[in-house]
Amino acid sequence: MASSRWLLHALLLVLILHMDSMLLKTASMPPPSPVVCSGPDGGDGCILRNSYGAWNDRLDCRVQNVTYPSTEEELRSAVAYAARHRLNVKVVSKFSHTIPKLACPGRAGSAGSFLISTANYASGIDINVTSLVVTADAGVPLRELIDRVEGQGLSLVAVPYWEGVSVAGLISTGAHGSSWWGKGGAVHDHVVGISLVVPAKESEGFAKVIRIEAQDQLLNAARVSLGMLGVISKVKFSLEKGFKRSITYDFTDDARIEEIYTDQAMKYEFADITWYPSKHTAVYRNDNRVPLNTSGDGLYDFLGFQSNSVVVSKSVRATEKLLENARNVDGKCALASTTVGYKKLIANGLRNGLIFTGYPVIGRQGKMQTSGSCLYSAPSRTDLTCAWDPRIDGLFFYESTAIFPAQRFADFVRDVKKLRDMNPKNFCGVDIYNGFLVRFIKASKAYLGQSEDSIVVDFNYYRADDPSTPRLNQDVWEEVEQMAFFKHGATPHWAKNRNLAFLNVRNKYPNFGKFMAAKKQLDPQNLFSSEWSDDILFRNEAAKGDGCALEGQCICSEDRHCSPAKGYLCKAGLVYQEARVCRYTESSMA
Ligand SMILES: Cc1cc2nc3c(=O)[nH]c(=O)nc-3n(C[C@H](O)[C@H](O)[C@H](O)COP(=O)(O)OP(=O)(O)OC[C@H]3O[C@@H](n4cnc5c(N)ncnc54)[C@H](O)[C@@H]3O)c2cc1C
Ligand SMILES: *[C@@H]1O[C@H](CO)[C@@H](O)[C@H](O)[C@H]1NC(C)=O
Ligand SMILES: *[C@@H]1O[C@H](CO)[C@@H](O)[C@H](O)[C@H]1NC(C)=O
Ligand SMILES: *[C@@H]1O[C@H](CO)[C@@H](O)[C@H](O)[C@H]1NC(C)=O
Repeated sequence: MASSRWLLHALLLVLILHMDSMLLKTASMPPPSPVVCSGPDGGDGCILRNSYGAWNDRLDCRVQNVTYPSTEEELRSAVAYAARHRLNVKVVSKFSHTIPKLACPGRAGSAGSFLISTANYASGIDINVTSLVVTADAGVPLRELIDRVEGQGLSLVAVPYWEGVSVAGLISTGAHGSSWWGKGGAVHDHVVGISLVVPAKESEGFAKVIRIEAQDQLLNAARVSLGMLGVISKVKFSLEKGFKRSITYDFTDDARIEEIYTDQAMKYEFADITWYPSKHTAVYRNDNRVPLNTSGDGLYDFLGFQSNSVVVSKSVRATEKLLENARNVDGKCALASTTVGYKKLIANGLRNGLIFTGYPVIGRQGKMQTSGSCLYSAPSRTDLTCAWDPRIDGLFFYESTAIFPAQRFADFVRDVKKLRDMNPKNFCGVDIYNGFLVRFIKASKAYLGQSEDSIVVDFNYYRADDPSTPRLNQDVWEEVEQMAFFKHGATPHWAKNRNLAFLNVRNKYPNFGKFMAAKKQLDPQNLFSSEWSDDILFRNEAAKGDGCALEGQCICSEDRHCSPAKGYLCKAGLVYQEARVCRYTESSMA
């Protein structure tokens, strides 16, 4: 097949370019602002987007008015304004990195919707060295918080792997790193106080600030609140004495993941596992803390979060599209092999100094846990961005994240292995991204956190430009998704996932009722709810339109929910028979 040979050549060329650009450690064009207003005064009509430029349902989020407070008092008066005018109101950070449309205010049939941005409320960082706490304004970027804390010889123990988030935004969706030690990997379990601006009576000026301390029951509602309770103005985190970490990635086979994941988490404080099913490869992150005086000035600059040349991001995307259109599974597998091989070569982006020279890599906590070098601005370099920047035709993908009660994870892995063993090549599509990233979080008191020790699994995969375009092996991802959420009892990460993952989510949280009671107490008029956040929180099986299963708006039950015209019919799962997935069926095209 001449065309596929040509494709593979194109692919290799692209990859060589790709790697070349990764060696340029240059800063890039910062991400765009998530809010764009059309009127000259920004008064009439703004559109809110997330960092990928697309929500799950792809419908624009329109808001009447947006405000940018820069002090707690301005924040309070913004909430008072919404309360006085009975506007639906939501908060968004400068980053807007959440995939579900939680930050979108408003309701169909009601004009009033108001957005508060924390982009300019981002400077206050108050560290108390004796009591080992830091209090930060809601909009403070995670990187600034870390650098200030480390500057005082202290460390934040748990933060997500991606640093392009705000202090309040990240706790609001339950963001996490990975650990079963101490308080665990979820950031909200290190929160010891929150200030919240909530609507109030007219006599109180329509809004007030409440300070929630460590011992208050209300903190368990406010730790993970999805922006539903009010506006967080300040977050207080507990700190520890500064430390370093020593990291080794062990690239090995995947035979025993389901037997040893618990041991891995017990043995290493910051353990994780990356599983590449098509390659039969597991990468164990052997990662423990070491004293600050251990020598080593290493850095983790995760490959996927480095600056990319726009030309390269576009060609990788174009290659993926070609492979998709040609139904070229072998091409996808070649891409996956090259990617995994390259990651092994460069230790995923770990560096001992200027480059990676060997394991273990030892460096300070503030440089080893989280990264995102593609975020930082060099106005001269408009040719470099984060790979998914919506202004270029770069990467566009889904991120499914399932959180399992710890002991149920083994059965999930066994099921995925059964599906993989039927045809390993079908899994190359996730291995091009990050395979299955397995992380650890501990039981939390947060009402919308995990009530028991848990395993978090992320997997990313190609998303088509056009919602009506089915994707290569989409039946496989759908089956894995349904196995996770409906067979093995996983809950969806609040900041990720396609809409179907949220079906009946409220019934999966034993303290959901307590959360709603706190909401009723703090926001009796439901100002901080919207059609969009309700759709996630209270999702039931919705009315099913043609093609609704393609983008995860529904689970198919008839062929028309897939794409019969393109050969995708609604079929039973191969391992999980109860699953209903859109599968390409050759004969239907005859
Ligand atoms: C590339 C990438 C990598 C990621 N990696 C990880 C990871 O390793 N681990 C992980 O757990 N997650 C990860 N995430 C998800 C990310 O941590 C969450 O989406 C996080 O919530 C984003 O923070 P943000 O500041 O952008 O919040 P936004 O998206 O702006 O807001 C998130 C939610 O919080 C609400 N909110 C924001 N500010 C306030 C406030 N002041 N008061 C009340 N409500 C508020 C919003 O209304 C919204 O509901 C990743 C996301 C991306 C894009
Ligand atoms: C927008 O909100 C501000 C409050 O922050 C208010 O003063 C202003 O009048 C509003 N503008 C419109 C057009 O609603
Ligand atoms: C630090 O915290 C301690 C204990 O809560 C308190 O007594 C002290 O005043 C705080 N220091 C500062 C500088 O705020
Ligand atoms: C680090 O400090 C500890 C005590 O502070 C000391 O015992 C140890 O020898 C030091 N290690 C190195 C490598 O300097």
